[in-house]
Amino acid sequence: MSAQEKNVKKILIRSLASIVIVFVAAWSFSLLYEGNKLRLLDKFDKQAEENSSLKPFHKLHFQAKLDCSACHEGGVKENQPIAKSKEGDCFICHEKMKEKVKVPDNTDCKACHTKPVTW
Ligand code: HEC
Ligand code: HEC
Ligand code: HEC
Repeated sequence: MSAQEKNVKKILIRSLASIVIVFVAAWSFSLLYEGNKLRLLDKFDKQAEENSSLKPFHKLHFQAKLDCSACHEGGVKENQPIAKSKEGDCFICHEKMKEKVKVPDNTDCKACHTKPVTW
């Protein structure tokens, strides 16, 4: 093998190694980021449970890729009050989704309310 060929080989190996390193680094960062998001959702669930009679649903709906504004009008912004979710919003969307995914029936009060409700 000529010196030039050796050089080309070296460069190839080096670039391959850096690609692998960059890939592994990006992958670990994305795992960290996902883990952080899930921890945050746990926090929202806890807060939601403490402050309302509704069961926590954040992780579940996050996995269904819902935006915060689907249930909190105007979305959720730092240092701003969070709009209470409206029962009608839950019902409208579940009505549309019920053919495709498992959603609670609108009359299944216990699926959403932790405390007994009277009406
Ligand atoms: C499927 C509906 C739904 C989605 C989507 C949703 N939330 Fe909620 N969230 C609720 C419900 C229900 C409560 C309980 C209080 C209420 O009635 O709004 C709540 C409560 C909260 C609370 C506690 C509020 C308080 O008054 O203490 C936080 C914080 C919160 N949500 C953040 C978020 C963020 C951030 C997102 C987007 C990543 C999000 N939520 C998406 C339904 C949802
Ligand atoms: C924009 C659409 C949308 C809105 C708004 C929405 N949901 Fe859902 N919901 C879903 C989808 C999709 C699922 C199924 C998730 C899955 O299993 O992947 C679901 C599932 C659920 C389930 C669990 C069903 C089960 O047995 O596993 C509960 C409980 C629930 N939603 C409560 C709520 C409440 C409470 C609200 C309003 C505060 C709400 N949802 C608003 C789309 C929505
Ligand atoms: C898909 C989830 C879901 C189901 C199923 C559901 N609710 Fe609700 N309900 C909500 C949400 C969200 C609110 C509004 C947020 C809040 O009041 O904390 C609400 C609000 C209410 C309120 C007003 C509470 C208040 O404090 O103002 C009553 C009463 C109520 N629901 C009764 C019922 C009854 C009775 C059933 C069964 C027939 C039922 N709900 C089924 C999600 C649901």
